[in-house]
Amino acid sequence: MLEDNDAIKCVFINKNNLYIKSKFHKDLHDLLGNGIFLSEGEEWKRQHDMIAPFFQHTRMEPYVNEMKTCAVAMMDRMATQSLSGKPISFAEEAMRFTLEVVLGTFLDSRIGLDQTEGFRERLGRVLRTIERRIWQWPNLPLGFQRLIDRSYSKSLRSLQSFVETMVMAYPDDEGGRSEFISTLRKSSHDRDSNFGNLLRDQIMSVLVAGHETSANALTWAVFELARNPAICDRAREEADQIEVRNINSENARELIYIQAVIYESLRLYPPVWTMSRDPLSNHDIPIGDGTKLSIRKNQTVVVCPYTYHRSRLYWDDPEVFKPERFVEKPIRGFSGEGFIPFGTGARICLGAEFAILELTIALVIMLQRFEFRLVDPGRPITPEPLITLRPQENVCMYFKQRRGDDGQ
Ligand code: HEM
Repeated sequence: MLEDNDAIKCVFINKNNLYIKSKFHKDLHDLLGNGIFLSEGEEWKRQHDMIAPFFQHTRMEPYVNEMKTCAVAMMDRMATQSLSGKPISFAEEAMRFTLEVVLGTFLDSRIGLDQTEGFRERLGRVLRTIERRIWQWPNLPLGFQRLIDRSYSKSLRSLQSFVETMVMAYPDDEGGRSEFISTLRKSSHDRDSNFGNLLRDQIMSVLVAGHETSANALTWAVFELARNPAICDRAREEADQIEVRNINSENARELIYIQAVIYESLRLYPPVWTMSRDPLSNHDIPIGDGTKLSIRKNQTVVVCPYTYHRSRLYWDDPEVFKPERFVEKPIRGFSGEGFIPFGTGARICLGAEFAILELTIALVIMLQRFEFRLVDPGRPITPEPLITLRPQENVCMYFKQRRGDDGQ
């Protein structure tokens, strides 16, 4: 396990061509196949060059409207639920929101809500099974494993056919609504006789990479805001300065304090809490104290952003939620010393800017429309480190509307 900044830089940046994603990722292959998240070498580069343009800063503007629409829809659902006076499970709402955003921006917003819900439920089932396989499988009785396996295969197949159907809905010509699908489709078709599966893996990889991560980041940020009234007031003050209809990808970046809240949540609760690589050869890597660490081919190198982000080497009071640190020292390029929530180097998250934008928009609208508090503020919420870092229990909160507009 590496915790040293120089060593991490060496593995992920300087010598990244000597590493591949580790064997711990093998259980994800059923779901993500040879899409961008798991592919390596030339195949990864080809997919990266094709997908990266869709995540460039200049491409963000058209996504903003979809993000606002999905955020307002989430707030409307919560407003209706809040009328009953009952608490709301925010984590669930966040999952629904981020899935709708990624479907609506890159894929097909015409998909009905019940289909999205079915997809979300099955994706949850498949990911939970994969998590069990990675972390707990040997402890489960065999009969139980088989039962889970059957339901897993059924859910997996259904997710695949959901994506396949979505892809089939687009004609080969430029007439398709989603430029993302048409670009991927054309490129896969030109080079692979099995292009259907490759295309499905590519789309599934973006859907999965962009869904739970952002949902967990949003949930943790809202949880910390609810626990820290002074921080929440300051964030709300900033949110109230901007009209939702005027938010764009440029001025969203000027919401310095709200973005600091997001970065600080990502520091304390990095959704991708562990990253691992297998070395392709024996070699040495430097560590900060001037010595070298010898890496052997049969080892796996693990970096744990959760502990790295809480290291006293890089942060004062590392356990304390203090967004001000990101106001005083802003992060450039989504990573820095002691901070790699989006990874670093060639395989850094392609959706980092997209994610910060969707979280900013959701928080602005939520802060403008609701006051919120935890059902049981004294109860700690333990992070559950599975594929992503989720809160162990439902984060249930009371939401009360501040004003009756729809936030637009
Ligand atoms: C707060 C939200 C997010 C976090 C914390 C996050 C984190 C990460 C991390 C740590 C990696 C690198 C993993 C590794 O090196 O092993 C990664 C890769 C990736 N992420 Fe994200 N991500 C987020 C949101 C998104 C979104 C919204 C999208 C797309 C809509 C996305 C798409 C991707 C893709 C395509 C990759 C693979 C990049 C490659 O291998 O070249 N992510 N993400």
